[in-house]
Amino acid sequence: MIKVNQLTKQYPKSSHPVFKDLSFSLDAGQSMALCGQSGSGKSTLIGLLCGLDSATSGEIILNNTSFHDLSLEEKSDFRAKFMSLVFQQVTLVPYLNVIENITLPSLYTDKKIDESDVDHSLKQMNLMSVKYQFPHELSIGQAQRICLIRTLITRPKIILADEPTGALDPPNAAFIFQLLTDYCKTNQAGVIIATHDWSLAEQCDHQLWLTPRDAK
Ligand SMILES: Nc1ncnc2c1ncn2[C@@H]1O[C@H](COP(=O)(O)OP(=O)(O)O)[C@@H](O)[C@H]1O
Ligand SMILES: [Mg+2]
Repeated sequence: MIKVNQLTKQYPKSSHPVFKDLSFSLDAGQSMALCGQSGSGKSTLIGLLCGLDSATSGEIILNNTSFHDLSLEEKSDFRAKFMSLVFQQVTLVPYLNVIENITLPSLYTDKKIDESDVDHSLKQMNLMSVKYQFPHELSIGQAQRICLIRTLITRPKIILADEPTGALDPPNAAFIFQLLTDYCKTNQAGVIIATHDWSLAEQCDHQLWLTPRDAK
């Protein structure tokens, strides 16, 4: 599902690589926590895995496709078809209500989103009462759960989450981790979650540790 071979990333103006010759693989149905303190390269690795940035050397194979060989447009199509991203910041569109935000991906992909599926998820997460509310009317925990519903509703094969629980209290954070790891099992997806919270990282099948460059 996800295979990384000898990946090295060095930013142009930097004298050291963020990481060097990093290799790992993740099978379908497996989750991996990307651990390490701030500055260790978690976001850099997520940026490479989703194709928004390119590696200095090495190879990334996603769903049997060598990412390096794709054009920018092909990477974008690949992301729309197979991948979902989750960030620490809530990424809801402020002038769209909850249901409009959740169904937004159907506008730019060929994925159909069934409103009864959305209702099912909203009920499951105790969010039915906010279906027509706008993002500024939600708590951060509610807003991040809405982002998660939007991510999962298109049934992505790969989910990359960059500190999705960084702004949440422990119960909400644990809930989001549980949701992502359960999704991964039931949908045979590959899920990578960056976090600096060790107790949450333990909920994943695998843990990959990155160390900051100056500690190497
Ligand atoms: N666009 C960039 N240009 C140069 N250096 C960067 C850039 N983005 C991140 N870095 C550096 O790369 C290292 C890893 O950063 P980052 O991937 O954001 O770590 P983390 O997400 O684990 O906090 C840091 O030393 C950071 O300063
Ligand atoms: Mg980061």
